[in-house]
Amino acid sequence: MAKIAIMGCGTVGYGVYRTFMMNSETITRRVGERIQVAYALDLREFPGDPIESILTHDFNDILNDPQVSVVVETMGGLHPAYEFTKKCLLAGKSVCTSNKELVAEHGVELRSIAMDMNVNYLFEASCGGGIPIIRVLNSSLTAEEIEEVTGILNGTTNYILTSMTEEGKDFAVALKEAQQKGYAELHPEADVEGWDACRKIAILSSLAYGHHISYKDVHTEGITKVTKEDIEYARLLDCRIKLLATSRRDANGTWVLVAPMMIGKENPLTAVDGVMNAVMVKGNAVGTTMFYGSGAGSLPTASAVCGDVIEAVKYKKTIKTAYTADNMDLISVDEVERPFFVRWKGTKEEAEALFGTLSEIVYLPELDGEIGVITGHLSEKQFKDLIVDVPQVISWYRRGKNEEAEEKED
Ligand code: HSE
Repeated sequence: MAKIAIMGCGTVGYGVYRTFMMNSETITRRVGERIQVAYALDLREFPGDPIESILTHDFNDILNDPQVSVVVETMGGLHPAYEFTKKCLLAGKSVCTSNKELVAEHGVELRSIAMDMNVNYLFEASCGGGIPIIRVLNSSLTAEEIEEVTGILNGTTNYILTSMTEEGKDFAVALKEAQQKGYAELHPEADVEGWDACRKIAILSSLAYGHHISYKDVHTEGITKVTKEDIEYARLLDCRIKLLATSRRDANGTWVLVAPMMIGKENPLTAVDGVMNAVMVKGNAVGTTMFYGSGAGSLPTASAVCGDVIEAVKYKKTIKTAYTADNMDLISVDEVERPFFVRWKGTKEEAEALFGTLSEIVYLPELDGEIGVITGHLSEKQFKDLIVDVPQVISWYRRGKNEEAEEKED
């Protein structure tokens, strides 16, 4: 029998407890031994709840029990999650977490301690909720040179953008609903300003390219400026506005970006709605692969944590990954070339005079005196230089292209 403990019994931690109770027979059969949840650490009381029988308020109960071999950290936030995780690893216990903030900030150090102690620091649930993506990058796709990782990695913002698009809801109403459903972070700025997606793409890109990418180096924009009018223009262009987290590596270098982008039907990510997440990974041998599932919520995220716990119980020693702690040099997104969507207060001729040939021009009858245009390919620097102090620009978005679809069209 393997004894485990859960630190933090909120949305995800409680889901981990439920999953081990609900699927205990199957898990025992697959692991070859029973996994017993021996402790649940939380500041709160759970009167009348079955978890009450294993509840503790003292972290030392877990730390000092030599029979506890795996600890689940679902506390969220940096402190005391960092200190508790470090102590558990140094005590020779594996730690499985959903805490992307901690993985992005201290993952390199915690992984290195785990390796020294011949245990594991596993974080499948930190990116894409229930979608198996970390193990895919670490294992199934290890033969690949990864060229691109692009995902919808935040359920809350995808839920908000979908509600605004499909139901015409206001931003604030949609955010409140996402919070009520348990998708949003404690402080919703982490979701709506793109910081959560930024941490996730930094983690995934580090694993994909084999060197550490700091989330602090990722150019990040959120969705707070997206308006109903912008969404209407996207509809007119047969596009959707999606918060994409993307990284790409080519001959010029590697860049990472989180921003709302206008993407068309040629991109399968347009079909990813509501709280669902999806990640596209492009490798030089396999081509494009895509992974889809619930990106947030109690049981889906718990499922990923439980998978890690089972892995740690089964393998009992460090599972090696080819990822070094040195910081990867990134090129600026200013160097990346693409078309841009621009909402333009003025005439088509004025827009053409500034941007050159336009590939599309659309009008919304209810918005008099303005047009929506798609520019030709420009580098971000060229584009941003062009629009400095140009009052006609009401809003703009990067027009995300699916290069594979474009190649097929040619
Ligand atoms: N707030 C996050 C999201 C939770 O909405 O995706 C899962 O990481």
